[in-house]
Amino acid sequence: MRYSDPVKRVRIGLLGVGTVGRSVARALVERRDVLSRAAGAPLVLQRAAVRDLSRERGVEPGVLTGDPRSVVQADDVDLVIEVMGGEEPARALIAEALQRKKPVVTANKRVIAWHGPQLAQLAAQRGVELRFEAAVGGGIPLIAPLTDDLAANRVLELRAIINGTTNYILTRMAAGETFESALAQAQKLGYAEADPGDDVDAVDAADKLAILVRIAFGLSCTPAQIFRQGVRGLDPQDLAYGREMGYALKLLATARRTNGKVEARVHPTFVSAEHPLARVDGPRNAVHVVGDLSGPVLFGGLGAGGDATASAVLADVTHVARRLALGDPVEPPRSSVENAELLPMGEVRTRCYLRLAVDDVPGVFAQITRVLADHEIGLASVIQREPATGPADVVLLTYAAHEAAFAQAEAELSRLPCTRAVRARIRVEEART
Ligand SMILES: NC(=O)c1ccc[n+]([C@@H]2O[C@H](COP(=O)([O-])OP(=O)(O)OC[C@H]3O[C@@H](n4cnc5c(N)ncnc54)[C@H](OP(=O)(O)O)[C@@H]3O)[C@@H](O)[C@H]2O)c1
Repeated sequence: MRYSDPVKRVRIGLLGVGTVGRSVARALVERRDVLSRAAGAPLVLQRAAVRDLSRERGVEPGVLTGDPRSVVQADDVDLVIEVMGGEEPARALIAEALQRKKPVVTANKRVIAWHGPQLAQLAAQRGVELRFEAAVGGGIPLIAPLTDDLAANRVLELRAIINGTTNYILTRMAAGETFESALAQAQKLGYAEADPGDDVDAVDAADKLAILVRIAFGLSCTPAQIFRQGVRGLDPQDLAYGREMGYALKLLATARRTNGKVEARVHPTFVSAEHPLARVDGPRNAVHVVGDLSGPVLFGGLGAGGDATASAVLADVTHVARRLALGDPVEPPRSSVENAELLPMGEVRTRCYLRLAVDDVPGVFAQITRVLADHEIGLASVIQREPATGPADVVLLTYAAHEAAFAQAEAELSRLPCTRAVRARIRVEEART
């Protein structure tokens, strides 16, 4: 069945010619042959929108405009690529393109995390595609493998390092550097923005996890519902104690099925040094998925960068262009019968690492263990360091207990007469390898 006349060439409207858009535009010229073979028709950059028309973009000046709506509305644009970033006007432009029956490829995690289901519904109503491979994990193929290649599976667990900036910071902190110094270095190398809030406070990772859980678990939630804790305030001392105990510290986005519901959370996490994610260092990203048929599968690579992200954008573009070139109909959306529910954070069970600064006096240990026992938290191991001066460090590794129990125990521990401070509480994952 054909749904439309095949097009002889696919005319592209590009919204944004920044880091990603520039790489996309360059590839459309330099890889013309590869792309037209993959798509089955030549791909032509017809129009492109930027804010500042005076800057050199490496594209023919004739295609540039300062008015992104004119790109979306143009009759000579068959396919829209949105790589402007930000929530608005990107969301409204995507919606208008879909409304006008133009397929859209976007790299915009913010828009897909917050508005993905509504935009997907609009795309389905209008009979066009909305694809977003580049929105999570930059150049790493994730969305298509999770949607298609693992379709026969029920995904049991997903653990991801999906923010390169924080992974770079934690890698440096594992070598003893402070958070502030590691952040400054990340900014110097261009891994972190001048305003690093979205990265270090785990906003970016929560956006991406919201997208992944929708696809992998059928859990429809917004990033605001996902428990999120960033990497500010971490102390390299804790990474050193963790290593002594056989763990590496990562900002992990975790999702898994528990008691018929789905956990979804982002926070600093100790993972066993044996786990493949423990060895993912620097700005790299990796996603570890456990399917009930496939077993563990690891995706890894460059989570950001113009060319890597353009690779994912152009994968989507060739997919859509091929269909346009053949005049094939759009696949109807897959029915999601799961309607999975989010497990409240208080009901999540993890192990925990706790570091307390305590007075070096007799009976301290009895007080600490009594609080833990009161909350049914079992103790797996302890490190105690004699102080040269000042309070002693007591480091505890517990067995699994509910998050709510840890929160109460932490508050009580901080009020003990012997406690100077609870210096750290870091969740520990016993993940399948
Ligand atoms: N960079 C990465 O490594 C990466 C990785 C994965 C996903 N992404 C996603 O890809 C998207 C683009 O990121 P990027 O790093 O390429 O951003 P960027 O370098 O800031 O580029 C944004 C481009 O959009 C244009 N633009 C922004 N607002 C506009 C408006 N209202 N009207 C017209 N043009 C507008 C800008 O024009 P001017 O140049 O004139 O300001 C610029 O050309 C974002 O959604 C981002 O999350 C990026």
